[in-house]
Amino acid sequence: MNKKAQDSLGFGLGLRPPHYQHIVERRPAVDWFEVLSENYMVPGGKPLYYLDRIRADYPVVMHGVSLSIGSTEPLDQRYLADLKRLAARIEPRWISDHLCWTGVGGLNLHDLLPLPYTEEGIVHVADRVARVQDYLGQRILLENVSSYVSWQASTLSEWDFLTAVAERADCLVLLDVNNIYVSSRNHGFDPQAFLAGIPVERVRQIHLAGHSRNGELLIDTHDQPVPDPVWELYAAAVRRFGAVPTMIERDADIPPLDDLLAELDAARRFSALALEAAA
Ligand SMILES: [Fe+2]
Repeated sequence: MNKKAQDSLGFGLGLRPPHYQHIVERRPAVDWFEVLSENYMVPGGKPLYYLDRIRADYPVVMHGVSLSIGSTEPLDQRYLADLKRLAARIEPRWISDHLCWTGVGGLNLHDLLPLPYTEEGIVHVADRVARVQDYLGQRILLENVSSYVSWQASTLSEWDFLTAVAERADCLVLLDVNNIYVSSRNHGFDPQAFLAGIPVERVRQIHLAGHSRNGELLIDTHDQPVPDPVWELYAAAVRRFGAVPTMIERDADIPPLDDLLAELDAARRFSALALEAAA
């Protein structure tokens, strides 16, 4: 697919079970849905039934949380086989996961943990990405995570590390604007420097979400509407990266679909204004 066709994908939402029925019955004006890969890896059942029906009407992309691409454990071949099988079934526009590790010694911490940003880490992660891409037969997207701690061993910024991995492995980037904002506040970096450090041609998708405050820390809770500072950073991202397919992630306190559709219209407006300003 060429870049223009991907750009035309437009504005999407994360597909969530409370909205299945509404989507099937009313076919809302959403351009595409992002599905959480792990929720559809079991054969049969209600989730897969709805996914097949929704896929008949909408483009989809696949988003995973279990690849653990930064881990020192071997790649999970069974997981990759399930991922490939699901991709063959629903033909997503692309497959993404996170630039993180999620556990060690067979233990899954169910958390997307940051890596030490080092030269050694670039080689390690890029090699694993290349092997995943070879197996899946397509390039994947890696998403920047939010973080609350960092490694003393890090010698690079997160954006330089992400860029170096993407270029060495020739993979793409899913830019989570909320995660950039959350991490910038928690670690005291300039979020604009993050945007400026990512090559334009690598960014294939954008995530928007809300967060919460816990004392001094911002936490990536995905349980609130997109707040003003994240909209402002999104506008800056559109000015730099152009009309990148954008979606809203809501994972807790999920409101009626109509509320998310209104929020998606706000994303359309912010994007249009930013593109106008950049023209
Ligand atoms: Fe995200």
